[in-house]
Amino acid sequence: MPIEEITEAEAWSATRSSINRQRAGVERASNSGSDGPIHFLPDGSWHAERPVSAPAQSLLEVFAPLVSRTGPLVIGQLGQSLDGRIATHTGASHYINGEAARTHLHRLRAIVDAVVIGVGTLNADDPQLTVRHVEGHNPARVLLDPTGRARADCRMFRDGQARVLHLQAQGAGAGDPQLPAGIESVQLPHHPAYGIHPAVVLQSLVERGLRRVLVEGGGLTVSRFLEAGALHRLHLLVAPMLIGSGRPGICLPPIDTLEAALRPRCRVFACGADSLFDLALDAPAAATSTGAI
Ligand SMILES: NC(=O)c1ccc[n+]([C@@H]2O[C@H](COP(=O)([O-])OP(=O)(O)OC[C@H]3O[C@@H](n4cnc5c(N)ncnc54)[C@H](OP(=O)(O)O)[C@@H]3O)[C@@H](O)[C@H]2O)c1
Repeated sequence: MPIEEITEAEAWSATRSSINRQRAGVERASNSGSDGPIHFLPDGSWHAERPVSAPAQSLLEVFAPLVSRTGPLVIGQLGQSLDGRIATHTGASHYINGEAARTHLHRLRAIVDAVVIGVGTLNADDPQLTVRHVEGHNPARVLLDPTGRARADCRMFRDGQARVLHLQAQGAGAGDPQLPAGIESVQLPHHPAYGIHPAVVLQSLVERGLRRVLVEGGGLTVSRFLEAGALHRLHLLVAPMLIGSGRPGICLPPIDTLEAALRPRCRVFACGADSLFDLALDAPAAATSTGAI
């Protein structure tokens, strides 16, 4: 009798249970261990006791390095066109990526404690930042709004689906967006280049029990975290589309020669019609590898 392959649903369930163990504070000194027939190893790899279907294999390849990390984790993500745009000039970004990439984004949300966005994204998209496409836990929602220009009628302030933190910069000419009760207001020191230094943002989240963080957008916000060296990984979901104008994705200070360009270790996975570039920013550069999710 043929042995049943591990399905994508089983692989996701194993990934979630490993994360849930960490949330429950029962993580081991090294986060190796078994989730049913799947074993996550401390070096970011995995192995399974049964044959694994192709979609399950890709999911485990992508998520095992995230699951096995024991300390704080900061992942940036952007969905972009081939020409590096994340929205049109009017701010329209729904949808650059296809359904598989949106599912991937919801999985990322489900494995973190908090999702961070900039106020540009809040005001343009009115996002919910919840986990709807997969089974999982809604992360806390963290808004970077140094000068208090958030639209108070946005859904995440009112839907009660998860904790909301509103981060403002002290002395940045703060406005008062008159947010509803229940939103946690956090005042942090103003930084002349970043607004609030990403390391200060992350420290304030750790102090509130939020150690695994997804910096979800937009381009300015992810770029500042990247520039500050605050990202462990960056997931770029590239759609086979040319927008030709509009909001840019990653923007860093100018460099004169290509020796100064970032060349992180990179894995590439097919993700429906899109491609996921998984950049390991905390590891030495090495050859690019390919797969599929
Ligand atoms: N395709 C995707 O994956 C994706 C994802 C998210 C958003 N989007 C699109 O991207 C567009 C918005 O992106 P964007 O780059 O214009 O703006 P954004 O990154 O959403 O927001 C930028 C603003 O957030 C605040 N901010 C960011 N980092 C900060 C920090 N470290 N400290 C303090 N404040 C900080 C600043 O507000 P102040 O200006 O008030 O100082 C900054 O100007 C929208 O059109 C949205 O649809 C696309």
